[in-house]
Amino acid sequence: MDLSLSLSSPPNLHSFLTKSLSFSTRFHKPLPFFTCYPQIYSITTGYHPITAQTSNQNNTPIDTAAAADDDGFILEDVPHLTNFLPDLPTYPNPLKYSQAYAIVKNTFVSPEDVLAQQIVVQKGSPRGVHFRRAGPREKVYFKPEEVRACIVTCGGLCPGINTVIREIVCGLNYMYGVNNILGIEGGYRGFYSKNTMELNPKVVNDIHKRGGTILQTSRGGHDTNKIVDNIQDRGINQVYIIGGDGTQKGAAAIFKEVEKRRLPVAVAGIPKTIDNDIAVIDKSFGFDTAVEEAQRAINAAHVEVESVENGVGIVKLMGRYSGFIAMFATLASRDVDCCLIPESPFYLEGQGGLFEFVQRRLKENGHMVIVLAEGAGQEYVSQSVNAPEEKDASGNKLLLDVGLWLTQQIKDYFTTVKKMAVNMKYIDPTYMIRAVPSNAYDNIYCTLLAQSAVHGAMAGYSGFTVGPVNSRHAYIPIERVTEATNVVKLTDRMWARLLASTNQPIFLDIHE
Ligand code: F6P
Repeated sequence: MDLSLSLSSPPNLHSFLTKSLSFSTRFHKPLPFFTCYPQIYSITTGYHPITAQTSNQNNTPIDTAAAADDDGFILEDVPHLTNFLPDLPTYPNPLKYSQAYAIVKNTFVSPEDVLAQQIVVQKGSPRGVHFRRAGPREKVYFKPEEVRACIVTCGGLCPGINTVIREIVCGLNYMYGVNNILGIEGGYRGFYSKNTMELNPKVVNDIHKRGGTILQTSRGGHDTNKIVDNIQDRGINQVYIIGGDGTQKGAAAIFKEVEKRRLPVAVAGIPKTIDNDIAVIDKSFGFDTAVEEAQRAINAAHVEVESVENGVGIVKLMGRYSGFIAMFATLASRDVDCCLIPESPFYLEGQGGLFEFVQRRLKENGHMVIVLAEGAGQEYVSQSVNAPEEKDASGNKLLLDVGLWLTQQIKDYFTTVKKMAVNMKYIDPTYMIRAVPSNAYDNIYCTLLAQSAVHGAMAGYSGFTVGPVNSRHAYIPIERVTEATNVVKLTDRMWARLLASTNQPIFLDIHE
């Protein structure tokens, strides 16, 4: 973001509006035209080329004529093993004989079922992008007794990882009768440098009640060739990869190598990040739990500051590039006076600045609470501490502590400039929030994610990720969830709701 480093001036409105709008303008151009290649249909819009892979006739009756209809229907399909192994045999789905599913009207998802990415449309607008609906298929491409699955967890923690692990294991076992499941320990590098763990329903029975990941996790360590060698050596034919943006890119690389070697291996990604910044999907797992857990910290800050004179509480929440946790936690709490997120630049001094607002709130109420996403104001902090930029093993910039910095700035300003004593209370609950087990809602959500991944892998899809799109679970091409990250759109009504509830300054010169 083009951000002026001045602590006392409103930043450029145009630059962040452009950023906020750039993704949403994708389909505002005239209808796409099609160029056909074997298996790949390249659909070009006025802005971006989009490729929709059609799958082999073995797994889909969605005909390409439909995909190329001039009503603007686009199927962004996921790869299937038969794309490069056309002679793979199929077997009836064991769910056909399941007592639990005996009276379900539609046990199997019709191969024609797709989900629309945009559900707010105008009469006459193109039908737009669709994804394949997740769920069990009538035919499977693996004999249960021949499945050797593995699960790996990578990147930072988030509530619900253990639930996803549990439900992959139980889904494979209870629904498909799979008994051979390995846990890869310690993230990607665990494939080639660590032991594995045998997983079965008994081992994972109560792990959803614990935070963290029983498989341990790490950042980096992705060596595609070594990982695929290991997959081959161990005879693994289903790989479940739970992780964020970088991890999903790693899953795509593993799939490419699997495809190159023509291995009958299903690679399924389950997107994870507490920051809720994964593109396309409605929400990432663990996010609701994080917002709920953040309430405890905000409540504590509120209790602290209303019990002293001129109390200013600062609560730092996670959110490297996006302020979703901060925004939702603020909206839920109603005890927050100001929410600062990376997407909305702020400034401290002068008219419309944070100091002026703090002074006003202290005068009105005698106390105030600020919720701060960890990625907010990073430019200011690095400028003031003059720290060299460092990166973590995933390649993410290591964040400086904006909470400490802001606490000090407010304290210094009121003591030295305003000659007024303020009682600063800084709470950093970030890791405490991330480490809790998932709540009831997230447990159910994790179950659906895990089961969708299992159904997709058994149905022979490979190199795909799963997630809800407009409340229905879909199979999504991995690159669609990694090519961009979601951010809070300041031009959306949700941010306006927040501003209306806190009445905080908008830190912008709206006349610009
Ligand atoms: O990417 C998710 C996240 O939780 C960020 O919000 C946070 O900055 C980061 O991970 C920290 O993770 P760790 O300290 O484990 O590297």
